[in-house]
Amino acid sequence: MPANKKLLILPGDGIGPEVMRQVRRVVDWMDRRRHVSFDVAEGLVGGCAIDQHGVPVSDETMADAMAVDAVLLGAVGGPKWDGVPFDRRPEAGLLRLRKELGLFANLRPAIVFDALVDASTLKAEVVRGLDIMIVRELTGGVYFGEPRGITDLPNGERRGVNTQVYTTSEIHRVARVAFDLARKRNKKVHSVEKANVMESGLLWRQEVTKLHAAEFADVELQHMYADNCAMQLLKNPSQFDVIVTDNLFGDMLSDEAAMITGSLGMLPSASLGAEEGGRRRALYEPVHGSAPDIAGRDVANPIATLLSFAMMLRYSFDMDEDAKLIEGAIEKVLKGGMRTADIMAPGMARCSTTVMGESIVRELDKLAA
Ligand code: IPM
Ligand code: MG
Repeated sequence: MPANKKLLILPGDGIGPEVMRQVRRVVDWMDRRRHVSFDVAEGLVGGCAIDQHGVPVSDETMADAMAVDAVLLGAVGGPKWDGVPFDRRPEAGLLRLRKELGLFANLRPAIVFDALVDASTLKAEVVRGLDIMIVRELTGGVYFGEPRGITDLPNGERRGVNTQVYTTSEIHRVARVAFDLARKRNKKVHSVEKANVMESGLLWRQEVTKLHAAEFADVELQHMYADNCAMQLLKNPSQFDVIVTDNLFGDMLSDEAAMITGSLGMLPSASLGAEEGGRRRALYEPVHGSAPDIAGRDVANPIATLLSFAMMLRYSFDMDEDAKLIEGAIEKVLKGGMRTADIMAPGMARCSTTVMGESIVRELDKLAA
């Protein structure tokens, strides 16, 4: 028997716990039907950790996250913690996890399921078959650059500062992930920055160009300004295969790309560290937030989190077949007309978080029979 796969689940705040319950169903199913067992531990992150420990992620939870094979996170934040000082906000827990686990490459696929092509606000013919992978740099840039802060000026004004900073190695390692992924896809990378106004953007462009020439000449590379990319994503999203970009532009463009697919409730993500000794730290989370307005009402869409679990099987455990089973079951349920509120459409059957989870498990049973 191979050693159990060690998994840390951090449900977080808002809808995090209720969507994560559906993942537990699938984990149990895998145990029962596929004889794959996970050692699952749970911990606190975000506002619930602030309430319990006074910090958005405790040192103990950080140590647990370091020790496991993969972390699965729900969502963090909510209005309850709006008054909390900046460095202790729920989001700071997530940023600490990303930074200290060294998760520099954030993979955010934007895929349009056939059954959901009408859920997009864009025309069906524009989004049908869409399959984009955004690779967002996650541990650098303006999110972590120094100096930062708010200071009082002698003239009574206040000054807020953040710093956008990238080094060659930071650019190379994330671009390498993008080129490697493109090789397994449609061999096209768009590298996105603002080289027309930012030195860090110019450096980004120069270094991606160098790496491309040296190691990835078989992949098509195009450079694009971030504002143009935002526009092109709406105009003709199918022109993109892999997009690689910095932390802040990646944050924005991935929300945009996600919404093109119809709902943020559908999109998973993987955050990966460097490979060391055949092992790679990884955290998986839905792209959506904690949605405090609908939390606790059993109406949230659990699919983004279930797809994040499928990404975990694929990237952390090399279980492509099982990942495909889960993706296939989700597709079947959608084809059958089952919809949570966020993707509801005329003629479809509206269902709760729980019923969506149960239906997916039922489909899994059929697929694995
Ligand atoms: C995301 C979120 C986070 C980010 C927040 C919650 C800190 O928007 O993962 O996209 O800005 O990175
Ligand atoms: Mg975001």
